[in-house]
Amino acid sequence: MRLGIPLEHAAHERRVAAVPASVKVFTGWGWDVVVEAGAGDAAGFPDNEFVEAGATIVADAATSHNADLVLRVGPPTLEEVELIPGGAVLAGFLEPFTAVDLVRALADRKITALAVEAVPRTTLAQAMDALSSQANIAGYAAAIIAADDSPKFPTMLVTAAGTIPPARALVLGVGVAGLQAIATFKRLGSIVHAYDIRPETKEQVESLGAKFVPAPTVEMDEGGYAREVDAETAAKQQEILADYATKADMIVTTAQIPGRPAPTLVTANVVARMHEGAIIVDMAASSGGNVEGTVADEIVNVGGVTIHGPIDLPSRVATDASRMYARNLQELVGRWRGEEGFTVDLEDEVAGPATITNDGWILHPRTRSAMDLEDPEGEAS
Ligand code: NAI
Repeated sequence: MRLGIPLEHAAHERRVAAVPASVKVFTGWGWDVVVEAGAGDAAGFPDNEFVEAGATIVADAATSHNADLVLRVGPPTLEEVELIPGGAVLAGFLEPFTAVDLVRALADRKITALAVEAVPRTTLAQAMDALSSQANIAGYAAAIIAADDSPKFPTMLVTAAGTIPPARALVLGVGVAGLQAIATFKRLGSIVHAYDIRPETKEQVESLGAKFVPAPTVEMDEGGYAREVDAETAAKQQEILADYATKADMIVTTAQIPGRPAPTLVTANVVARMHEGAIIVDMAASSGGNVEGTVADEIVNVGGVTIHGPIDLPSRVATDASRMYARNLQELVGRWRGEEGFTVDLEDEVAGPATITNDGWILHPRTRSAMDLEDPEGEAS
């Protein structure tokens, strides 16, 4: 069994899909691990640490992709797909709901593709939930960016030179990232308000010592995700949030609806009313943003308010993001390790639903509907 760890080439990507600790586990299972030279450098894991863990360093992408199992952070390019042998297994963030050409290429090559985005959000799958592990880190990084860029001290300070009031933070969207952003602002000593459309988040917000903004809430869908709200509810939301946004020194927005554009929570009109020096970090930038005026991957200044639209937050904490992600992948591919060796088991409760393509078939229902393929059973490519 040969496992390959390529060097990631996507812009801003500093993470790596395996770290020395996970390589040690894989080699302990009797697997041969090959790591592309420099794959862990940007995350703080030099080649020699992989060698000490039992891996072999290989020189290029062709060799690191030439394996029975390839672990990646981001999706391969179509050229990189050609480097993976037919019948091999590939796992990573594969963007299966939007990367139609990639999914087709993986099916055509008869690669078994495990997309971490499709791992079920169940208690059983928590150790394999890479969306959560990376969102957790992203929420921390967003709060730190806001605090770093703010011209105000985050906590109250009583000194001989005067008393400094604590800064006011507002967190919109209280999923995994939002909870960590709240916790980070609280640790920094700020006054934190937070809001999410899902009613059960009120208790979670309060348990972190923050205050819940009394805007409308709506029951979630059967998958546990937020729904898109009607125009009247959205207008009411924006109106109530405006009062809190205009008083805030730092705002982190995280609201997302899977497969849909991000909801607008802070309008341009509200940004115009915010005070000079206020900082917004819009974590939904890559799906359209929660703030009017956000530009993905840029920092813009609108009348003295700085709006950050970062798209690489987990990569900014690359060492620990890689550690957590590597553990997620180790647990995920470990589901298919048995007495018979490594075998694809589509019946497995976690790896099965995360399998997008297998043996030339496109299996995953949401991917199929995104590709306008008919339900139910797969279609040979
Ligand atoms: P996400 O990244 O998809 O969205 C972030 C937040 O935005 C969500 O909390 C969502 O309710 C909120 N949102 C969406 N539209 C909004 C609007 N118009 N106004 C205000 N907020 C809005 O969320 P994430 O972090 O991926 O979590 C998604 C769901 O999965 C949550 O229900 C979470 O509790 C659940 N979950 C369950 C896990 C488990 O049981 N193992 C693990 C992780 C998440």
